[in-house]
Amino acid sequence: MNILLLGSGGREDALAWRIRQSPSCEALIAAPGNPGIARWAQCVAIDPADPAAVVALARASDIALVVVGPEAPLVAGVADALRAAGIAVFGPSAAAAQLEGSKGFTKDLCRANAIPTAAYVRTESREAARAALGAFSLPVVLKADGLAAGKGVVIATTADEAEQAIEAVGEGPMVIEAFLEGEEASLFSLVDGETCVALASAQDHKRVGEGDTGPNTGGMGAYSPAPVLTAELEQRAMDEIVRPTARAMAAAGMPFSGVLYAGLMLTDEGPKLIEYNVRFGDPECEAIMPRIEGDFAELLHAVASGRLGEVAAPELSASHAMTVIVAARGYPGTPASGGAIRAVESAEAVEGVTVFHAGTAQAEAGLVARGGRVLAVTALGKTLAQARARAYRAIDQIDFADGFHRRDIGWRELERQEA
Ligand code: AMP
Ligand code: GLY
Repeated sequence: MNILLLGSGGREDALAWRIRQSPSCEALIAAPGNPGIARWAQCVAIDPADPAAVVALARASDIALVVVGPEAPLVAGVADALRAAGIAVFGPSAAAAQLEGSKGFTKDLCRANAIPTAAYVRTESREAARAALGAFSLPVVLKADGLAAGKGVVIATTADEAEQAIEAVGEGPMVIEAFLEGEEASLFSLVDGETCVALASAQDHKRVGEGDTGPNTGGMGAYSPAPVLTAELEQRAMDEIVRPTARAMAAAGMPFSGVLYAGLMLTDEGPKLIEYNVRFGDPECEAIMPRIEGDFAELLHAVASGRLGEVAAPELSASHAMTVIVAARGYPGTPASGGAIRAVESAEAVEGVTVFHAGTAQAEAGLVARGGRVLAVTALGKTLAQARARAYRAIDQIDFADGFHRRDIGWRELERQEA
């Protein structure tokens, strides 16, 4: 079949690489793609969040499956437009994408279905937020919601910090919730209506600095699997969180289709939901794709066409994968743009290594940086320690004067293993 992939980051480079190797993939088009994706796909420069443009491209190219990488096209209703045009799409409707877009929606769904999550209150004004604080002990977690979102999450350890967070959000909607203690892990499941299949676990590193310090980023590195999410805990997360969510969404007339990314806190009482995303994580996707065996494109097509329950469960290798992000100096602030990148081929010559492109451009003189996260250097190994050794050996081959990376990806798990 002919497949169209939407997006232009490291996540999409990893998806393109895996899809291209699937026996059922005859041709792969990416929109808009990037220089890394151009190794596996024909890139077409359209806006992936423009439903009419995506439908037109899919029709013109005889596309049997559209795979949506990022959330923006989903929120813009691209999956709805494709379904209305009779084209199979891997990715949820705009209504189901509320699981990511609205924290309040997801919290209310959890409460109504007894899904384990932090206790919370939704507020609409500063006054209401101040009044609600009384019911929480410190630390307390404050999140902007709805249109005012994107200001991040504040974990306030003092009443003053909580007040500052309320001031910063202004009069908009907020979710105030109890602080959960534990280690975080992500669980990625394929969901087709009420059918849910666990795909893989991973752990991300959101802070820019080593030892998980400094400002938050989109993610500086990841590894998969996350052994902290044991088979028993994964089963509980599927039974207590993911499946009840899929059932509730179907019952509400918004059946979910695609990949559901559950951000979990592993507490003393078991896994609790922190948040959902309705797409693959970036860089988690780069660490998961190399572990997938079998015909991945066919699996995505099964989800997209409502046949997940009829096909074999996903096959994952027993290997461990680690992705280390190489970012441009200045990220997550204003990143240095245009820095030359050389010797990526030498990095890829290291056994088990693939270098995915997150933010690169092809200049006349060669590859240059474009954007914050530039490369996602990914290595497979028999153990996490071997994957780490290979990933850093590969990074050390790369000549990118304007770049930086964290040297400690995987530290929590590796420390546990060494203890
Ligand atoms: P979110 O945008 O909801 O994913 O939150 C971003 C990060 O804030 C999460 O990855 C957690 O590290 C942290 N966080 C969010 N909610 C809580 C909570 N209730 N308890 C502890 N940490 C939280
Ligand atoms: N790596 C976190 C995310 O994709 O949201």
